[in-house]
Amino acid sequence: MALHRRIIFILSFIGIAIVLALLVQRLWPQPSASRPQITAAFNLVDQTGAAVSERDYRGKYMFIYFGFAFCPDVCPFTLDMMSAALAKLPTSVAEKIQPIFISLDPERDTVEELARYMQSFDPRFVALTGSKEAVAAAARQFKVYFQKVEDEASAGGYVIDHSSIIYLMDPQGGLIQHFTHHDTEQTMAQKLRELIPE
Ligand code: NI
Repeated sequence: MALHRRIIFILSFIGIAIVLALLVQRLWPQPSASRPQITAAFNLVDQTGAAVSERDYRGKYMFIYFGFAFCPDVCPFTLDMMSAALAKLPTSVAEKIQPIFISLDPERDTVEELARYMQSFDPRFVALTGSKEAVAAAARQFKVYFQKVEDEASAGGYVIDHSSIIYLMDPQGGLIQHFTHHDTEQTMAQKLRELIPE
């Protein structure tokens, strides 16, 4: 009888321990679950025609957005917001940042087209394009979704559906923060000041 009771006691103890372990696992915040692990890697051409890769920006905080110059709304809105956030920063912080626009539309976004397009935004921006394959590889690296969609209203008869995320990479090229359309130039500038030492 005593042995019986002891076994029941031990079994219930194990049962409780398992339930507690499951609860802790369920409730504990999963580290990095909300932030995809991304490392910058690309081989593209900038708006002056120079071949560049992520290694050219080592030591800088790359501030990256993917889109296309013919985008009617989201891209210009986002590039404006990034430009405005940069303008709010002290020079000592802003000069550590390299804003980069990467085209998802290499057919229409030639070097010349990007040079013209970027005149509307912060002059520190680098705009990158390349071969179809090089652009697709860069997008894959950053887990960017994009898809050509027919649209008769657009020059060339198509637009590019694309995800809209702004990436902040550390000086070694690893993702440290991302921003979305829920951000404003204020929240973005504030976060950049928190993350980048003066
Ligand atoms: Ni766009």
